[in-house]
Amino acid sequence: MDKLHESGFTNRGVSLSPPTLRAGMVGIGMIFDETYRPLFEHRHASGGVYDPSFGLCRVELAAVASRTGVRAEAYRQNSAGKIAAFESFSGDNAVARLLEAGVDFACVATPDDRHFAGSKAVLSAGKHLLVEKPSVLSLAELDELERIAREQHVLAKIVYHKLFDPDHKKLRTLVMDGELQHVNNGYCSLLEPKSISSGQFAEWIRGRNPGTYVAVHYIKLIDFTFGGRLKSVACTGQRGLVGSADGPTWDSTQLRLVYEYADLRQAAFDIHTSWVAPDNFPGYVEQEVQFRFDNGVWNAHSRKRGVECTIEGSTPLKRKITINNHYNGTCIEPWGQRSQRGYGLEAIDRFVHELAFVEYGGPAGERSRRLDAVRNLLHNDLAADRQVVAAVQSMEAILARHAAGRPNGVVEVDHPAGGLALFTPGSKEPEILYPGRVAGAHAAGLPRGTGNT
Ligand SMILES: NC(=O)c1ccc[n+]([C@@H]2O[C@H](COP(=O)([O-])OP(=O)(O)OC[C@H]3O[C@@H](n4cnc5c(N)ncnc54)[C@H](O)[C@@H]3O)[C@@H](O)[C@H]2O)c1
Repeated sequence: MDKLHESGFTNRGVSLSPPTLRAGMVGIGMIFDETYRPLFEHRHASGGVYDPSFGLCRVELAAVASRTGVRAEAYRQNSAGKIAAFESFSGDNAVARLLEAGVDFACVATPDDRHFAGSKAVLSAGKHLLVEKPSVLSLAELDELERIAREQHVLAKIVYHKLFDPDHKKLRTLVMDGELQHVNNGYCSLLEPKSISSGQFAEWIRGRNPGTYVAVHYIKLIDFTFGGRLKSVACTGQRGLVGSADGPTWDSTQLRLVYEYADLRQAAFDIHTSWVAPDNFPGYVEQEVQFRFDNGVWNAHSRKRGVECTIEGSTPLKRKITINNHYNGTCIEPWGQRSQRGYGLEAIDRFVHELAFVEYGGPAGERSRRLDAVRNLLHNDLAADRQVVAAVQSMEAILARHAAGRPNGVVEVDHPAGGLALFTPGSKEPEILYPGRVAGAHAAGLPRGTGNT
């Protein structure tokens, strides 16, 4: 169907009535409330998104799918006037029914081990996809989604909002401009409170680990900011709080990635995560990074950007002492309006702009050129997620062997025996987790300007 004509554009490019992108939401939990909800409400109130290339384009939440539908009903009650009417589907066929409800794109924000099924359904129905991190848990799944997206001529994009954090944009800018030269090594840490593992995620946490859930933010940051080829993955962790000391559910994990750059120099990165930090911790999450370069050191602590606020009877449980006002901060604007904005919303908004550009940013006959251009944006495209998924799949496999009594495995990436070759102490032969080659066209050398390419 010719979207340009459907949308009311004349062939002279004059808009008679703005087109609408209808959104579907698969999963309506915490992250929906923190980022998608305020974004959809903001775009409803502001009339849509605008860019000179596509004019005004409305964006409306049209349908949601969830397990029970309870939160969707509560949201419907609370959102009167803030958003257009939307349909809610729950139960076993919820996603299929959502996809039949006339949506143009769907966002998948279910627990991470359910991303693949939801995403495959979305793409197979010919709808554009925006999936939460981690995109999927194996390269085989990634290959399949990528193939379907290409066959269906739709976008498959991932939300990596930490790339939109102004501090991380500055880090990348200094690297790209060659001011920070050649990363040598670094560490990142992200600690979630116990309430995440004991409450919010209790239903699906068995067999899961906090690394897949949050280390992936930093895997992507490292991969996108410094480029290079992933060479090896090692991981260990601790158990005994969320599950039993010898079971498959992890309290905390320590991941090590080794990258190699075009000049054959290597860098190592340690990423520590947990979801058993005390609930009375002064901030929601503890996030810290340090990257060391040939000529500099980057230290960042996102909980200590400058604000510490104590309120009797409120902090640190009801309200946190260190507030991240950059992610999805709520405030009263100087002109009196209440708003919620930040990089958590920006990542979704950017996707909506990219999608509007593909569908309405020029003549229908040039859609595939626009689609290719947007696919080449590496910050969020599924095709550029190979090394991140390789790291996640390796980490999961190493932890699974550890839980089965064979700890301290190491995965060699693009080893002669296979793309992901898992070596466990005591085994002569590696176990091949993925036979194909991991490094794709997107696994670049060092970013431009680092003086080493
Ligand atoms: N970008 C971030 O910083 C960030 C933060 C939190 C969560 N997330 C990601 O968002 C995703 C969801 O996390 P959350 O915290 O919102 O989880 P949550 O447990 O609060 O919500 C999960 C939602 O998925 C629904 N659901 C579960 N299985 C389903 C299925 N088979 N079909 C349809 N709906 C289903 C549940 O009903 C619920 O609405 C995870 O992948 C997580 O990694 C990202």
